[in-house]
Amino acid sequence: SDYQFFSFKILQWYEQNPRELPWRGTTNPYKIWLSEIILQQTRIAQGLPYYEKFVKAYPTVKDLAIAPEDEVLRLWQGLGYYSRARNLHACAKHIWFERGGEFPNTYKDLLSLKGVGSYTAAAIGSFAFGIPKAVVDGNVFRILARYFGIETDIASGKGKKEFEALADQLIPHDNPGDYNQAIMDFGSRLCVPINPNCEECPLNSNCFAFNNDLVKALPVKINK
Ligand code: ADE
Repeated sequence: SDYQFFSFKILQWYEQNPRELPWRGTTNPYKIWLSEIILQQTRIAQGLPYYEKFVKAYPTVKDLAIAPEDEVLRLWQGLGYYSRARNLHACAKHIWFERGGEFPNTYKDLLSLKGVGSYTAAAIGSFAFGIPKAVVDGNVFRILARYFGIETDIASGKGKKEFEALADQLIPHDNPGDYNQAIMDFGSRLCVPINPNCEECPLNSNCFAFNNDLVKALPVKINK
């Protein structure tokens, strides 16, 4: 089907264009969670040294849990949005002292962690536990709107529901982690907002926007 073609091509592109990142190739939920919190409002290039610094200072959730708060905040200095660091520390304490060190391993339990929303829960769930929940952000809205020719306003509640439902149908259950990594990279490197390189896109033969000259028009975002 077209859904399978889409997922297969995304995964195939990723396999041919891998980006080596230190949190890829691990299934350690603590390290994946740490990387995803750092990357929430931070670019990869800026976040990388912080990830390395934190993993070195706190190799396990226990090390982070028992660290003094001011030390954690000091290590975070320069990244901004300090509530992320405070939530990180509070979660580590919660996991270590109240869950006996057992990292939450369902989508619902991941969502209940402070500072973990649907995107981050889907990322951790798929990378660490193979849970087939799709990440959905601006990149995914754009890719799906263009490829499938969806004109629903991505800023509306209806749009968010529609894109999330579609995204969860597209994610392959045998490889959800690689697929989520792949679509993140596909959106940030190929199907970019301005001047995407459609000529070299492996999905262009079936892309609705490309075939109907709507690449510039999609996704639809109505400012309120
Ligand atoms: N942005 C958020 N999470 C990411 C990840 N795991 N890899 C690349 N970019 C990301």
